[in-house]
Amino acid sequence: MSEKKRRAIVTGGSRGIGRAIVKELANKICSGVLLSDIVFVDDDAEKCAADLEKEINGSDVNIYAFQADATSFTDAQATVDAAVEKMGGVDILINNAGITKDNLLLRMSAEDFDRVINVNLKSVFNYTKAVLRPMMKQRYGRIVNIASVVGLIGNPGQANYVASKAGVIGFTKTMAKELGSRNITVNAIAPGFIETEMTKKLNDRQREGMLSGIPLQRMGQPEDIAKVVTFLCSPEADYITGQVIAVDGGMTM
Ligand code: NAI
Repeated sequence: MSEKKRRAIVTGGSRGIGRAIVKELANKICSGVLLSDIVFVDDDAEKCAADLEKEINGSDVNIYAFQADATSFTDAQATVDAAVEKMGGVDILINNAGITKDNLLLRMSAEDFDRVINVNLKSVFNYTKAVLRPMMKQRYGRIVNIASVVGLIGNPGQANYVASKAGVIGFTKTMAKELGSRNITVNAIAPGFIETEMTKKLNDRQREGMLSGIPLQRMGQPEDIAKVVTFLCSPEADYITGQVIAVDGGMTM
């Protein structure tokens, strides 16, 4: 088993799915992939850094918190440059930062449409573009974008969110085609209904409606997503690119 030390950047790593991804990557030595450093980027990263470090205590991975708004390309470039400097390079990028601002289109403001597109889709462009040079130069990269099942099937009340996630899926496939020759794989995960702050906003009726359409009859946990992210960054997934993997308890099939 070869032990290559990999270095990762995770956006939106302070809580929810992103936090589980940071923990899973840090704690799991995944057949040959030994993580050495992880940078997590969030607009409230500094607040969460100490807690996260405590939770990961015991793994040999260095964790660095970077406070940045993922919607700004200038910030993303500066953050990636600083992360590369700190870690000595970057091998893995997880584009996870995301928000919802739900409303029926009739009531959706132009500001809420723009904000959701900027956080969920533009950030993926920002960070992918910023890591390209180092990844292309070393002829190795693993990029995983967190999309959503609604980007595949649509959802009333979420035109901004669905458009952003469908955009992420299209972006993923295009990057897989552009970057394959440099041994950079780009895949998307489409989570279903996962228990985080984001889904706490749903009322009981919405919750019951969602659960009734899930064959496994439960909400997913952030760790259910983090495990698939780790797999896609492991050598077992070296020949997988351009795929959208639904992790949704069977909700979409
Ligand atoms: P969450 O709300 O718990 O966490 C989102 C994280 O992104 C937070 O740490 C937040 O501070 C960060 N963030 C938000 N805006 C940011 C910005 N401008 N710059 C930097 N960081 C920012 O949400 P959750 O559920 O963990 O979501 C993670 C990803 O998974 C999102 O892309 C979301 O769309 C996606 N997803 C979640 C599902 C769910 O059921 N929870 C279902 C499908 C997809």
